[in-house]
Amino acid sequence: MSESTISNSTSVRSGSRQSPPCVMTIFGATGDLTRRKLLPALYDLAVQDLLPDEFAIVGFGRRAQDEAGFRQSLGEGIKEFARLPWDEEKWKWLEGRIFYQQGEGYGDANAHQKLEERLVEVSKSVGAGDNRLYYLSIPPEEFAPVIQNLGEVRKAALKNGAPKDAWRRVIVEKPFGTDLKSARELNALIAKYFPEDEVFRIDHYLGKETVQNILTLRFGNLLWEPIWNNHFVDQIQIVVSEKVDVGKRAGYYETSGALRDMVVNHMFQVMSLVCMEPTTSLSADDVRDEKLKVLRAIKPMTPEQIAHNTLRGQYEGYKQAEGVAPDSQVETYVALKLEVDNWRWSGVPIYLRHGKNLEERVSEVVIRWKDVPNVLYNEEENTQVKSNMLVMRIQPNDGFALRMNAKVPGSNEIRDVRMNFDYAETFGAEPPEAYERLLHDALIGDSTLFTRRDESETAWGIVDPILNAWHEGKAPAPFEYAPGSWGPKEADEFIGRDGRRWHKPVD
Ligand code: BG6
Repeated sequence: MSESTISNSTSVRSGSRQSPPCVMTIFGATGDLTRRKLLPALYDLAVQDLLPDEFAIVGFGRRAQDEAGFRQSLGEGIKEFARLPWDEEKWKWLEGRIFYQQGEGYGDANAHQKLEERLVEVSKSVGAGDNRLYYLSIPPEEFAPVIQNLGEVRKAALKNGAPKDAWRRVIVEKPFGTDLKSARELNALIAKYFPEDEVFRIDHYLGKETVQNILTLRFGNLLWEPIWNNHFVDQIQIVVSEKVDVGKRAGYYETSGALRDMVVNHMFQVMSLVCMEPTTSLSADDVRDEKLKVLRAIKPMTPEQIAHNTLRGQYEGYKQAEGVAPDSQVETYVALKLEVDNWRWSGVPIYLRHGKNLEERVSEVVIRWKDVPNVLYNEEENTQVKSNMLVMRIQPNDGFALRMNAKVPGSNEIRDVRMNFDYAETFGAEPPEAYERLLHDALIGDSTLFTRRDESETAWGIVDPILNAWHEGKAPAPFEYAPGSWGPKEADEFIGRDGRRWHKPVD
């Protein structure tokens, strides 16, 4: 696999290159994420020859598990979840590079020492040298002990003559903290051992093609920039609605809620891409600098404003789910009205809405422009024109649609029409999975699509006062909503106060 033979139909993106030699360790290797996402993504990379021969995966877990069984279970996961078709030869190649290491606990220094010895041995067997990628797919309370141990092991390795130019990168899954304080503490601990360019805070939304396309759409077309501001835009809506309920994740969800689970990370990332200024380059830091400025410009809110500009919901039946407190106030739905208080966006409301157990699964960004001057049209019912609207569909039906007005042939009637772009229709192939792109980026050291330390802390700085106001009862408690609905009716009143309404996917 040393020669890169990427075919157009399967490559992650043109110009993709094979990653350098490395041994990847997955903490939490027997978990669901490893089986459903990580290994299928690595397999897809292998099929595209994006992994070198000098590559291996060591799964670390607390569970006793023989290597053959571990490989078999991952192979089955790949068959079920990989994007690309099963290729026996590629699987054999990958399978031979998968190992399992059991350890007593994530914070156990002895287990880490043994792991390091195993990594050295595995690395020798495939010729991977000293580069290491660690993936933390473990409960958040285990992040700190693992990082500390990895740091200590690294220090010792350097003392014992490990090459200084070899890298040790760490990918940290969400939730990255539960508030500003915990995020800061975690960042401080990581920074003690890993320089920022070796830290990859993963946000799988950034791995989605449709999220990346926000930048291409905005800055690869001359069309938008002159009208992408408060002179022309009336409102922005970002919605992530899910049909699924919290399922078996109630235990985690009780410590999280919708705001922490989706908004502070995924939705803020999307908002930043939609609202940021053009960058002068696509380098990781140039892009992240501009995204950060958006978060910094979010107008702070007093508790009274929080009560007015945020709304929580909880679906009926949530309290009865296993692992949920009978008097739980955890929100399974959240609506926010924010403002990016800078020259471009001041005065434009940005509505964020997310919930579980809703009518449809849809993630989209809606830019709605102001109405045309009421001069030529709008007099009679059939000549009313609707405001222009761009809907960027993150998922499903990935693509975007632009709403315009057109004359109905043979009459004076005006009707709104769509110009539609559909990924699958235009490009044929299924886009790469988010984890495929992100794992490859981490392997080649590109952190553009990962959250930087200051971004994560600034995001928590926005959310902290909201969580506090909610916690202190300074804002209404969650409103109930029927499973499979569009959320609480109070949410319609929430946006209705501004003379607006939620965008529905059929609009
Ligand atoms: C995860 C959240 O980060 O994202 C889940 O923890 C959520 O609660 C999921 O369901 C949504 O991801 P996607 O890619 O299905 O939109």
